[in-house]
Amino acid sequence: MHWTLFTVFLASIVRSTLSMSVLERRASEATVQTVYTFPNGTVMENLAIRSNGQILASIITAPQLYLLDPHVNSSAVLVHSFDGYECVFGIAELEEDQFYVLTGNASAETLTTVTGSWSTWKVDMTLYADSVSGNVKGSSRTFVEKVADFPDTQFLNGLGVLSKENGLLYAADPFGGAINVLNVYTGLHYVAINNSYTIPGEPFTTPLGVNGVHVWQPSWEDTPYVFYSNTAQSILVRMPIHLSNGTAAGDPEIVLSGFELDDFTFDYEGNVLQAVIGSNEVLRINPHTKQYAVIAGSVNSTALAGPSSVQLGRLASDKDVAFVTLNGGGKVPGAVKMLDLGSLV
Ligand SMILES: *[C@@H]1O[C@H](CO)[C@@H](O)[C@H](O)[C@H]1NC(C)=O
Ligand SMILES: *[C@@H]1O[C@H](CO)[C@@H](O)[C@H](O)[C@H]1NC(C)=O
Ligand SMILES: *[C@@H]1O[C@H](CO)[C@@H](O)[C@H](O)[C@H]1NC(C)=O
Ligand SMILES: *[C@@H]1O[C@H](CO)[C@@H](O)[C@H](O)[C@H]1NC(C)=O
Ligand SMILES: *[C@@H]1O[C@H](CO)[C@@H](O)[C@H](O)[C@H]1NC(C)=O
Ligand SMILES: *[C@@H]1O[C@H](CO)[C@@H](O)[C@H](O)[C@H]1NC(C)=O
Repeated sequence: MHWTLFTVFLASIVRSTLSMSVLERRASEATVQTVYTFPNGTVMENLAIRSNGQILASIITAPQLYLLDPHVNSSAVLVHSFDGYECVFGIAELEEDQFYVLTGNASAETLTTVTGSWSTWKVDMTLYADSVSGNVKGSSRTFVEKVADFPDTQFLNGLGVLSKENGLLYAADPFGGAINVLNVYTGLHYVAINNSYTIPGEPFTTPLGVNGVHVWQPSWEDTPYVFYSNTAQSILVRMPIHLSNGTAAGDPEIVLSGFELDDFTFDYEGNVLQAVIGSNEVLRINPHTKQYAVIAGSVNSTALAGPSSVQLGRLASDKDVAFVTLNGGGKVPGAVKMLDLGSLV
C-alpha cells in the first residue's frame, strides 16, 4: 500500500475518537489558495522563506530544491539538483540568505531510508543570484557546498536553528529516534537529544519518530525551548534546552497529542502553526494553554492533502500569510498553498 494512503488511513482511526472535540475547536478558517502545483507524482517536503519573500521548497521524489514567488498562480524555478542523492528534506536559514538543506536516499513509497546516505549542504542564495546573472565577482565559490556527512545516521528529516551565534542546527532523525546537533562551521555533529518522546513509539501511526524540530525563545522568555513533533506517537513536545550545546535543560512536556504531525513553525505570539498529515489540517496551538484550533483543511480535503510544513511570509504584505507544502497524501500532486491568517476572527 502506498505509504501516504496507509498513514492517512491509520490516522483517521486515531482521529475518529477525537472528532467531536475537534469539531468544537474549529476556528473560522482561512481560504486555501494555490501558489504552485507540481507535476503529479511529486511529493513535497519542506520550505523556507527568504528575506525577499521568495519561497525555497524541497521535494523528496527527486533531489531538487525550487524557488517560487509568494503569490497565487506562481511558477517554480529549479535552483539545484543534488546529484548522487534521491531526496531533499529539511531547510533552515542561519545567517541572512544562507540556507542549509538535508539530502539523502529514501523511498516515499516503501518508507525506507539508506543509513549513511545523509548529508547537510549550505545553499548561499546571495551567490545563487550571481550564478544566475553570470556575475561571478571574481569568486570561484559555488553557491552549493557540502557541510557534513552523517555516516551512522538512519534518516535526516526536519531541520531547525539551535543557535545562530554558535552556528548550530538541530536535525531530526525519525528512524533513529533522536535529534542531532550540527556545527555548520566545523561540520562536527552529535546526538544531543534521545528520549521517550523522540523515538518512534505507540500508537505507531507511522514508523517516523521525531520529525519537525524548532527552537522558540522570544525576547520575553528567559528559557529557550526546543519544540518537536513525533509522527509515530502523534505528539508535539517542548523541552528546555542549553543553547550552547542543544542538550536538555529540563523535562520534556507534551503540548498536543492525538494528531499525526509533520513540520511546524511559530507565529508572532508564539503559537505553533502545525501541519497535520494525518487529517489534512493546519492547527494553531497555544503552547501555554495547550488549546488548539483547526485553521484550515479537513480530513477529506484535497485542497490541503498531506500538509508537510508551514512557514509565515516575510514581506509587510504577507506577514500574516502561511505558506504550506503538501506531499499530496498519495492522491494529488505536491503543491505550495497559501492561507491568509489575517482573515481569521
Ligand atoms: C495522480 O497520481 C495518482 C496516484 O498515482 C492517481 O491516482 C491520480 O489519478 C493522478 N491524478 C492525475 C490528475 O493524473
Ligand atoms: C489562478 O489560476 C486559476 C486557474 O487558471 C484562475 O481561475 C484564477 O483566476 C487565477 N488567479 C489569479 C489570482 O491569478
Ligand atoms: C543514492 O542513490 C543513488 C541511486 O539513486 C546512488 O547512485 C547513490 O550512490 C546513493 N547514495 C548514497 C550516499 O547512498
Ligand atoms: C536512541 O535511543 C534508543 C533507545 O535507547 C536507541 O535504540 C537508539 O539507537 C538511539 N538513537 C540514536 C540515534 O542514538
Ligand atoms: C551543555 O551545556 C550545559 C550548559 O553550559 C552544561 O551544563 C552541560 O554539561 C553541557 N552538556 C554536554 C553534554 O556537554
Ligand atoms: C470523510 O470521508 C469518510 C469516507 O467517505 C466519511 O466516512 C467521513 O464521514 C468523512 N469525514 C468528514 C469529516 O467529512
